Amino acid sequence: MFIAFEGIEGSAKSTQLKLLDNWLGVKHSIPTLCTGEPGSKLSKECQSIRKLLLDPDNDMDDRAELFLYLADRAQHVGKIVIPALKEGKWVLTDRYDLSTYAYQGHARGYRNVDDDWFARSLMLAKYNKLPDKVFILDLDPEIGLERAKASNKEFKGGDRIEKEAMDFHKKVREGFLEAASVFSNCVIINAERSREEIHEDIKAYLLEDIQSWRKTNGLYEG
Ligand code: TYD
Repeated sequence: MFIAFEGIEGSAKSTQLKLLDNWLGVKHSIPTLCTGEPGSKLSKECQSIRKLLLDPDNDMDDRAELFLYLADRAQHVGKIVIPALKEGKWVLTDRYDLSTYAYQGHARGYRNVDDDWFARSLMLAKYNKLPDKVFILDLDPEIGLERAKASNKEFKGGDRIEKEAMDFHKKVREGFLEAASVFSNCVIINAERSREEIHEDIKAYLLEDIQSWRKTNGLYEG
């Protein structure tokens, strides 16, 4: 099972990822691997690409930005995600290619340049690997962005993308919501609620998958 958490800045994806990881492990004994993009902690190559992408001192060309996100993904999927899935782990990732769809495709406008080419590049970079479920944590960017900038320990005052204008972040949100109406593996989660309420929602969406995993692994209920 491959699960992605997506959303604008400050949507508390990583908190939800950790809560889910804990629940899967403790309650269901499901082996997991937690990772994220850009710059998976499990890959020094991805971490180098992350620095290039997010350092606010870098004057990055938009097209270079797009290809660096795709390079990070190819490295991540090829070396980390696919091997873990082959070992039977549930992979939980903090961002995946819906972020490229929303940030570079929608907000930077690359889908308008050539939608076909854009979609094929995304497929190529991710080895055609689609997540089974994508949770889009949705909230107003006016709330999320302040939260994200204030809590950014890596780049004080915010990283290169967080420093974009509010209009950009509104378009990113629009991109995520549009994706949810097009791709059947996406679920929109209202993230303007308590972390417990959000966690309950996410668990409910996974119950069937958990039951079928338990059956496949000979762990029957009751
Ligand atoms: P990060 O600190 O990981 O953000 P967050 O905690 O919000 O997940 O920074 C990742 C940034 O990169 C974030 O602003 C979203 C952006 N991004 C893209 O623009 N395109 C992409 O394909 C990905 C994966 C991330």
